[in-house]
Amino acid sequence: MKIEVNNNTVIFNHNNQKTEIHPIWLRERVREEKYLDKINDQRLFDPSFLDNIIIENAHIDDDVLELTFNDGVTSKFQITKLISEFLDSENLLNTIKKKIWDSTLQYKPKYQFKKNFYESREMYELLKSFYKYGFVIVKNVPTQNNYIINFANGIGSIRPTNFGEFFNVQSVSNPNDLAYTSLALPPHTDNPYRKPVPCIQLLHCIENEVDGGFSTLVDGFKVATHLKKNNPEYFKILTKVKVKFKFTDKDVILENRGELIELDEHDNFKQIRFNTRLDYVSVLEKNQLDFYYKARKEISNLYNSDQFKIEFKLMPGDIMMVDNHRLLHGRTAYNANEGKRLLQGCYIDYDSSEGKLRYLKRKFDN
Ligand code: OGA
Ligand code: ZN
Repeated sequence: MKIEVNNNTVIFNHNNQKTEIHPIWLRERVREEKYLDKINDQRLFDPSFLDNIIIENAHIDDDVLELTFNDGVTSKFQITKLISEFLDSENLLNTIKKKIWDSTLQYKPKYQFKKNFYESREMYELLKSFYKYGFVIVKNVPTQNNYIINFANGIGSIRPTNFGEFFNVQSVSNPNDLAYTSLALPPHTDNPYRKPVPCIQLLHCIENEVDGGFSTLVDGFKVATHLKKNNPEYFKILTKVKVKFKFTDKDVILENRGELIELDEHDNFKQIRFNTRLDYVSVLEKNQLDFYYKARKEISNLYNSDQFKIEFKLMPGDIMMVDNHRLLHGRTAYNANEGKRLLQGCYIDYDSSEGKLRYLKRKFDN
């Protein structure tokens, strides 16, 4: 692919397909000092008012395209940068190939916490692994009360909720959520009733003296792929029917809706939702609901089966970071009389993880 100039038009030549690049598209990308604030990379002019822009002079010298526009502006563009924008190859997340996994996953992405961790190359590797596997585990994080807040803010910004900045996961009397008991939690995604649904869950193990209380993870994209292949009709209905999720306590009623398997405009997986303690499908025609319930049962069987689940014990000092739009998490039951079990959890969103990832890429890869 290359950029060509012909008669003062700029042409993008890709696989012998020639496309003219709009003069305004180029004009709004001028980066000279007068037009762009060097500190914050923001424009010092408003391109929405540009009109009738034409290129009066264009020429190429190596990797530099030099243009003069009819409003008197002359600018130099780096051709490799223009090309990477056309091809979307600057979209960092597209460059991280997802590893979709099941219970045979051997490698678990683990990182050691250390001084200045948030600025380190390990943090950069951790974030890439997070997008690849949908989870990572960080070992040796200080087990101080609330430390999870520092950790979340070290990546980006914590997302407070009605549970506070963080929440204690331990067995209590009169819990407002089944997480705060010693019961098993089957694989689920957290808080599908929030708007927007929290993107990433962080769980910090402070104490885990009990025999049970193992953590479980399932790659929702793997299960959805399996269902699509083996039972396309079930898959289809789960990608079409919107389900309401609801949380109620004495202070608040939270609701949101969405498909159990949400696809994007290219039919790629966008978001998995699964929390059968909180889901309320709308009244559909009986046959349709009949089919929906069969499909939900099937996907529930898959999420709970040993074919897809990994199980491990979080130890004091471990932080598990889970993609809440892709993975399901859960825990096995435990006996609260055997000892203490305390996890502290909180949420961050993708702007935190993506923003940090781009920042660390600029720091280490440029
Ligand atoms: C939760 C949860 C898992 C655990 O609090 O949302 O899933 O290991 N907890 O207690
Ligand atoms: Zn949970």
